Amino acid sequence: MRTYITEDYQAMSRRAAHIIAAQVHLNPACVLGLATGSTPIGMYKQLIEWYKAGDLDFSQVKSVNLDEYAGLAPTHDQSYRYFMQTNLFDHINIDPANTNVPSGLAADPAAECRRYNQVIRDLGGIDVQVLGMGHNGHIGFNEPGDAFELETHVVDLQESTINANARFFASRDDVPRQAMTMGIKSIMLARQILVVVSGEDKADIVKAAFTGPVTPHVPASILQMHPNVVLVGDKAAMSKL
Ligand code: GLP
Repeated sequence: MRTYITEDYQAMSRRAAHIIAAQVHLNPACVLGLATGSTPIGMYKQLIEWYKAGDLDFSQVKSVNLDEYAGLAPTHDQSYRYFMQTNLFDHINIDPANTNVPSGLAADPAAECRRYNQVIRDLGGIDVQVLGMGHNGHIGFNEPGDAFELETHVVDLQESTINANARFFASRDDVPRQAMTMGIKSIMLARQILVVVSGEDKADIVKAAFTGPVTPHVPASILQMHPNVVLVGDKAAMSKL
């Protein structure tokens, strides 16, 4: 695992953006696995800036997002499709047809998960998967549990995750209780994984995930078994490593 410790959130975002930009330069038709959450927003901003300066071209890039809330329309301002449009896709020249997010409004979420697995397979897998980390060690929406889930599946969100994400909704009652997420196997099959972490409140879980035992009770701990992980964090998040 390669680890970068940066001064602050902005430097973390730039470093992570460099890693994505390098991928796009070296392989213009790469498959990017993308993530939502507040942590990667700065990285997306930086990529948009470089695109606008003429330094990056996303015209052949394909993307697959990790997860989506079940029941939210793509136009809902808390859906992950909406997040990706407003924080990245609407500002760069990626072909909308090449962007993939599970459909929150799918009538049959389990069938939607199966379709999504096929999408990832048809793309030939993921070149670099961006990951943030929840306070309980979740990646995507793979919550702590007794086993690692394999491919894209429907999950019941844990109370702590509902509470953490409630700040983005009008009220806690509005937070969806279920989501669709890539599984641990889908994530682990990515050829490279880029983990971004920021802030003191992530220091304990960063330590548990990267220096503790590999266990489904800390889903991110499985990343210790991946041969090509880059962990980029600001010094606050990395302070207990
Ligand atoms: C959500 C997302 C995750 C994300 C996590 C952490 O639950 N499903 O993909 O990594 O939140 O978010 P943040 O970066 O805001 O701490």
